Amino acid sequence: MTYGGCVNPAIGRSSVYRTHAFGIFFDRLYTYAEDADPHSLIGTLAQLPAHGSVDAVGQVPHWLFAFDAAGMAALRAVAVLATHPEERSRCETGELEQLQLRPFLRACVLESVRLWPTTPAILRELTADTTFGEGAWFGSGSSVLIATPAFQRDPDLLPFANDFVPDIWVDGRAEQYPQLVPFSAGPAECPGRNLVLFVTSTVIAHLLSMMRLELQSTPLLDRHRPLPATLNQFGVVFRAARPLRFSTVDLVSSAGRPAPSAGVPEDINLCAKSARGRPAIRPRSTPPAPNSSRWHRAPTSLER
Ligand code: HEM
Repeated sequence: MTYGGCVNPAIGRSSVYRTHAFGIFFDRLYTYAEDADPHSLIGTLAQLPAHGSVDAVGQVPHWLFAFDAAGMAALRAVAVLATHPEERSRCETGELEQLQLRPFLRACVLESVRLWPTTPAILRELTADTTFGEGAWFGSGSSVLIATPAFQRDPDLLPFANDFVPDIWVDGRAEQYPQLVPFSAGPAECPGRNLVLFVTSTVIAHLLSMMRLELQSTPLLDRHRPLPATLNQFGVVFRAARPLRFSTVDLVSSAGRPAPSAGVPEDINLCAKSARGRPAIRPRSTPPAPNSSRWHRAPTSLER
């Protein structure tokens, strides 16, 4: 296999580099899938039957791409929990070793996405002539853009419009408002919904059990004032105190800059372990042999 790709003078060297990087990434991915931990997500994928041209492992980059949104939702949930002690205390749990559904923590993530949607526009096409409200007529085939923040924060219809109220997702209130669609709804509802809620609620449960977080950045997410319409996850800064020893440490989100004195003590270890106890993501020192995989590896669009 060659990694050179086509050298399109109109696109230049970046195209060659990207083709090369994609090739290395995909070869590592398929080799990783060969020996996946059966308890991991990719291990589960490996156990599913896939025949012919079905490129199951080729879906993994889509998961990784979509998981950016999960990180944003989780970080914003943690930020708002840091200023809402009552809700935060309901998230604390001593049963971290057991995989659990954690309904209240899932509700906190749903509420984070309601307040600050990561997919703020949902697109549809009308399949029939439709009249909306009091006579707004649109013909079949019209494209519709649903701006979800306008509905999910509508102060005229929602008594909790600009507040953090995770309970609406557990006490049945959210079901009374069909305009609340953090993961969309209907046949095209986000298929990653339950995966995202499971992973983020598990991560947040572990994080909150390790340290008490104070929000240092603005906006302050004051529980007595309407929450801001947007929340830049890259600007979120926490100060953390461990519950047991109360040592403090500054934490910043991935793109923020830590203060010069900041550092995470060794005993605060954020590295995830798989069920077998080995790191969930294993570093590889040498690139694997290309095409050694039993998987059908479809060429990427850049390699075609
Ligand atoms: C916080 C995280 C996420 C949110 C808020 C979210 C939200 C959404 C929304 C609103 C849609 C549009 C659905 C529609 O057109 O009605 C969507 C589509 C989709 N999402 Fe997610 N998503 C998230 C993460 C993920 C993850 C991690 C995956 C995969 C592992 C995923 C897979 C998909 C796919 C495949 C679609 C297209 C569905 C279709 O058109 O039939 N999403 N998502």
